[in-house]
Amino acid sequence: MSYREEYQASIDDPKAFWAEKSKLIQWFTPPVEILSTDEHGIERWFGDGELNTCYLMLDYHIEQGRGDQIALIYDSPVTDQQQKFSYSQLRDQVAICAGMLKNHGVEKGDRVIIYLPMIPQAVISMLACARLGAVHSVVFGGFAPLELAVRLDDATPKVLITASCGIEINRIIEYKPIIDSAIDMASHKPSACILLQRPQALANMQPGRDVDWHEAIAKASPADCVPLKGTDPLYILYTSGTTGKPKGVVRENGGHAVAMKYSMSAIYDIEPGDVYWAASDVGWVVGHSYIVYGPLIHGCTTILYEGKPIMTPDAGAFWRVISEHGVKTLFSAPTAFRAIRKEDPEGKLAARYDLSCLQTIFAAGERLDPPTYDWLSEIFKVPVLDHWWQTETGWAIAAPMVGLEQMPVKPGSSTMPVPGFAIEILDDRGNPLGPNEQGFIALKLPLPPSCLTTIWGDVERFKSNYLETYPGYFNTGDGGYIDEDGYVFIMGRVDDVINVAGHRLSTGEMEEVVGRHPMVAECAVIGRYDELKGQLPMGFVVLKNTEGAEPDQVIQELVALVRRDIGAVAAFKHALIVARLPKTRSGKILRKTLRAMVDGDEYSVPSTIEDPAALDEIKALI
Ligand code: COA
Ligand code: AMP
Repeated sequence: MSYREEYQASIDDPKAFWAEKSKLIQWFTPPVEILSTDEHGIERWFGDGELNTCYLMLDYHIEQGRGDQIALIYDSPVTDQQQKFSYSQLRDQVAICAGMLKNHGVEKGDRVIIYLPMIPQAVISMLACARLGAVHSVVFGGFAPLELAVRLDDATPKVLITASCGIEINRIIEYKPIIDSAIDMASHKPSACILLQRPQALANMQPGRDVDWHEAIAKASPADCVPLKGTDPLYILYTSGTTGKPKGVVRENGGHAVAMKYSMSAIYDIEPGDVYWAASDVGWVVGHSYIVYGPLIHGCTTILYEGKPIMTPDAGAFWRVISEHGVKTLFSAPTAFRAIRKEDPEGKLAARYDLSCLQTIFAAGERLDPPTYDWLSEIFKVPVLDHWWQTETGWAIAAPMVGLEQMPVKPGSSTMPVPGFAIEILDDRGNPLGPNEQGFIALKLPLPPSCLTTIWGDVERFKSNYLETYPGYFNTGDGGYIDEDGYVFIMGRVDDVINVAGHRLSTGEMEEVVGRHPMVAECAVIGRYDELKGQLPMGFVVLKNTEGAEPDQVIQELVALVRRDIGAVAAFKHALIVARLPKTRSGKILRKTLRAMVDGDEYSVPSTIEDPAALDEIKALI
């Protein structure tokens, strides 16, 4: 079927379309009621089907004769190690890990927080939860104790799984002090903290609460897959919103498994048995969907890479991994490619490797800027494909569907809507806009399978954040346009979310942290353009009393405060002390104008501005 036919079918009759696609996976009991509406009025997929996602990823493939195929390759330049797990070996380790969790009282529906670096135990723990029907919540290692504490209180996990350390190039990040401090701060205390000791750092264990991973595994016996309803939650993944409280995006088993399976062939054009590599982190949605779930549901070999695009040991790291493991599809963030290009603009390091196995390069996380697109296309001579997605959807909303047909791409565009996603561009009143008119990007309901159906424990927040702005639509928070040929162009967030090196962060949250400094009267944080990371946060800070204040000292303290309360990943390193913030007469800070000014873009001064001189003062400081 051509892309157009497939897409139209998904829009004309979503139920029939997804009923057909649901047959791509092996259900214990196939769904009869394909789409239903729950007690909150939210539409949900495959509610009466029964399945187990871990079964689909491991046991099913073993039954189909793939037991000896490599499922997972752990490649760790930071520890100089590699390890391969066949489907049978991975299933055995996951089943024992599930048994270990069971020994600690974890049952269907219980939450488990996973705070682990990019090591096999991260994947094993996620799948062990899926096996039991427990709900995992992976927290990215670059987040600070307070962020972890917030997630502990929100997800109220029975168990926390961690390791003694992560490794950032050659820096050891000890996890235990972070864990201890987070548990101290949180009101909810997990009953056990299972910790994997890594040789690079030995953690002190707290008797009664902390449990050694190996000792606990030794006591466990394998656990079986628990049948789950299609709408039972698989995981919670916290993502930044406009306030300090992150949103727990809930992913359901049935819709997610169907979307993952469909996407592997329709979007990524990859076959079971192929090697697929998402160079991301399991702490982000890309890592969930395309390091762990998608490739394994599809019967591929996936790679867990504990390293960076550069410096581990050089900018040839990605190309080494590709040639060594026979990677067919590479998926990473544009920022990673920009980092490589900066170090190796002519691709000399890439030329050292046989990359004939590489069929396609996919990019997401931020817009693939045309210079990076051109560089990748020129050096690698394979299709370079941008696709747009969000934690909320768990898979691409717009993409070149190369598994359906070879679609020409336009640099700067993430191509066409993925089947199931009815993308519309709306004005601020919710009226649809025409071709090439820029506006707010919304998705007409129902959303296709895999998209969130609630925020953990807060369905009202889900409704108010996403569904109430434009009735009948899901509000993506992104802005952009669709051109006359139907190509989607994402121009960036229209809210307080920024993208720093492919990491989604909230400027609103940073403002809350900066505002906690005793000398700060008010502040605004914006995302300024950065050549490497796409955006970097920048603060504009008004002090309560400048007498005796050392501006540089205050700025240093603010930088330290954001690092302490959000984490190194926030990369908040720039702030300006200003006399006042530019505001409208109703008191709204003109963040958009500030951003344009800092980036050197054209900007107009809104007629509602309270005092135009405030902008001039800041301009003089930049
Ligand atoms: N644990 C602890 N600290 C972490 C961390 C982790 N998992 N990940 C990042 N950090 C720290 C870094 O060490 C750095 O600390 P520093 O301020 O002391 O130097 C800080 O957080 C910022 O990290 P990062 O944004 O990664 O910048 P960088 O300069 O270290 O590296 C890139 C730049 C481009 C190489 C890197 O950002 C990268 O690989 N990005 C790809 C992102 C990605 O894959 N996103 C997923 C979406 S598809
Ligand atoms: P996350 O939830 O971390 O995946 O971040 C989602 C946000 O990243 C989106 O709302 C977009 O702003 C941005 N994003 C992701 N992929 C793309 C892309 N291909 N083009 C433009 N922006 C993107």
